[in-house]
Amino acid sequence: EIKGLLFDLDGVIVDTAKYHYLAWKELAEKLKIPFTEKDNERLKGVSRMRSFEIILEIGGLELSKEEKEKYCTIKNNIYLEYIYKLKQEEVLPGVNEFLNDARKKGYKIALGSASKNAGVILSRLMLTDTFDAIIDGTKVNTAKPDPEVFLLGAKELGLKKEACIVFEDAKAGVDAAHNGGMKAIGIGRKENLPNADICIPGLFHITIDDLMNQL
Ligand code: BG6
Ligand code: MG
Repeated sequence: EIKGLLFDLDGVIVDTAKYHYLAWKELAEKLKIPFTEKDNERLKGVSRMRSFEIILEIGGLELSKEEKEKYCTIKNNIYLEYIYKLKQEEVLPGVNEFLNDARKKGYKIALGSASKNAGVILSRLMLTDTFDAIIDGTKVNTAKPDPEVFLLGAKELGLKKEACIVFEDAKAGVDAAHNGGMKAIGIGRKENLPNADICIPGLFHITIDDLMNQL
């Protein structure tokens, strides 16, 4: 029986992918690396450092660890300028309703995100108290598709992994759920998330009961 719901943040709760993109784009331009919206798809769900390494690969550039860290900090500062302006209305359609309904029905809810900025994002969206547990990039050592973030989420909810399902918009995240022995609800297009157990365009016009009936 499913008792816990584990949510990715970026692309599931809030559309921050566009701000990640704008920040990486600004950095890529400084480095004279061509970087398109299509390239950005590859960065979804991936850690900050790994994202930068993918951009360097695109540009055929190699940098030292120190330089990479310096540029990742620059990118994050650009990103944070957008995040500090994030508005509550930028929560994705249906998310608040879906979460409130699930909470009322007794489900435990955790965040399972790669982002080190999850705390500030949830607080900007007034969602901090909606989550019974918050696992983010500051708490995990291994990035998705490793299941660590979701296994820790289940643990902090006091639930067995078999009692949890994952909501993800990234292939790496769907794989992380499966690697942890959990089912994954894909948020987005089926062609981008072929492995998801169910795929829906978003959390609007759907309830947890509807999903449970489909699983
Ligand atoms: C993931 C995003 O949620 O978090 C990635 O999908 C991002 O695009 C990663 O790189 C790390 O986020 P942050 O905020 O710590 O740079
Ligand atoms: Mg995501």
